[in-house]
Amino acid sequence: MTQEASWTRKDLLGIAELEPGEIRAILDTAETFLEVSQRAIKKVPTLRGKTVVNLFFEPSTRTRSSFEIAQKRLSADGLNFSAKTSALTKGESLVDTALTLQAMQPDLIVIRHAYPGAPHMLARRLEAGVINAGDGAHEHPTQALLDAYTILQHKERLAGLKVAIVGDIEHSRVVRSNIHLLTKMEAEVTVAGPRTMMPRAAETLGAKVVFSLEEAITDADVIMMLRVQLERQSRLLFPSAREYFRLFGLTRERLKVAKEDAIIMHPGPMNRGVEIASEVADGPHSVILEQVSNGVAVRMAVLYLLSGAHRELA
Ligand code: CP
Repeated sequence: MTQEASWTRKDLLGIAELEPGEIRAILDTAETFLEVSQRAIKKVPTLRGKTVVNLFFEPSTRTRSSFEIAQKRLSADGLNFSAKTSALTKGESLVDTALTLQAMQPDLIVIRHAYPGAPHMLARRLEAGVINAGDGAHEHPTQALLDAYTILQHKERLAGLKVAIVGDIEHSRVVRSNIHLLTKMEAEVTVAGPRTMMPRAAETLGAKVVFSLEEAITDADVIMMLRVQLERQSRLLFPSAREYFRLFGLTRERLKVAKEDAIIMHPGPMNRGVEIASEVADGPHSVILEQVSNGVAVRMAVLYLLSGAHRELA
């Protein structure tokens, strides 16, 4: 049985619970969907008749639009739920809102929420499959999957690669999902950031922890810069954006200690001149926009596998 054919999960809540074979199944399936976006007519009938509800309670550009585009390219019917104009503003709970939507028989629900565990709570209550599009500072599984897919395009492997993840580690769901994924696939992960942005038990994340950008990126194959998440910080964690850039901003000069063919990643949105210089973000090592493009194929793969369409078509 192929890895794709053996996929049985209803939900994608995090990378923590996935087996390496399941990660490979999603990445292999994404490979088959990549060319759909390169066609003149960018549409296949694979999810015709399936309904997907997009529930975004936090702002999003990349994740939301790529899920919506992925649904359109697969011919699924997508409903974009707006929290601001819904009965949530009249005091309806998240669970009651979700049960109400469930009564209309959607096949999948994509949810982004500020509270860690919100997608898990829905998954326990709903028959529809639930996809976590980012829950607080907990996990962002489809981001880690599209990051892995992008790394594979450039490096053809994950095992043995030196990956440095630099920035606001404490508030990042991207770092948690990436550490789970990259260590399951046997990459060596180092995280770096100011002590004020490092979780107290950082070593339990499963990566090497350092407090210097140079130490983290020396000989790195992959450098992933993270956004300073001002909206999740309850107090100022560094003196100024200028001071942060002086210590942890990635510049062309600093990049010289990394491998010559190192790739530069950023999940977005970027704070140019804070965690990354424009000369690097737009430079020859940057794969930041490729990450965005690959997000569509990876999300098509996730929608396809969780909808059960692979079993119906078998
Ligand atoms: N990477 C990411 O989650 O970006 P958005 O917040 O724009 O979706």
